[in-house]
Amino acid sequence: MKFTVNGKDYALVVESHERLLDVLRNRLGLKGTKEGCSTGDCGICGVLMDGKLVNSCLIFAIQARNKRVETIEGIGTAEKLHPVQRAFMEWNASQCGYCIPAMILAAKNLLDKNPNPTQDQIRRATSGILCRCTGYLKIFEAVQAAAEEMKG
Ligand code: FES
Ligand code: FES
Repeated sequence: MKFTVNGKDYALVVESHERLLDVLRNRLGLKGTKEGCSTGDCGICGVLMDGKLVNSCLIFAIQARNKRVETIEGIGTAEKLHPVQRAFMEWNASQCGYCIPAMILAAKNLLDKNPNPTQDQIRRATSGILCRCTGYLKIFEAVQAAAEEMKG
């Protein structure tokens, strides 16, 4: 199969049962995508596929054929963070960090489509991702702050 991950083209032979999550982590070495429940409930394995947030533990790799996948590794760099990443740091929106790659992807996807989200829209956009640490409030505040910065 051919697909694009973080703007880079890949051609891989995959098994029919291989999950996108495993291909990203084990074949491409993109360990930023985390595994939680493995059953589609926690959202922590979230990646963007053609601009849609999907649970990569539920997607067979072959379903990503000819699609554009984005993982946390494709969002900003250590030298130049994406505004959402910077806001998560500045607002202390991360504790253990396990859910944060998916949260940041969900937030970025929202802000790409809707630069002026309401609190309710932010909550809905991130509602499929369970965070055991933060209580969510700091995450919502960080996304709002990122929206303000990106508008500016
Ligand atoms: S690990 Fe995929 S939804 Fe929980
Ligand atoms: S920061 Fe720990 S699960 Fe969200």
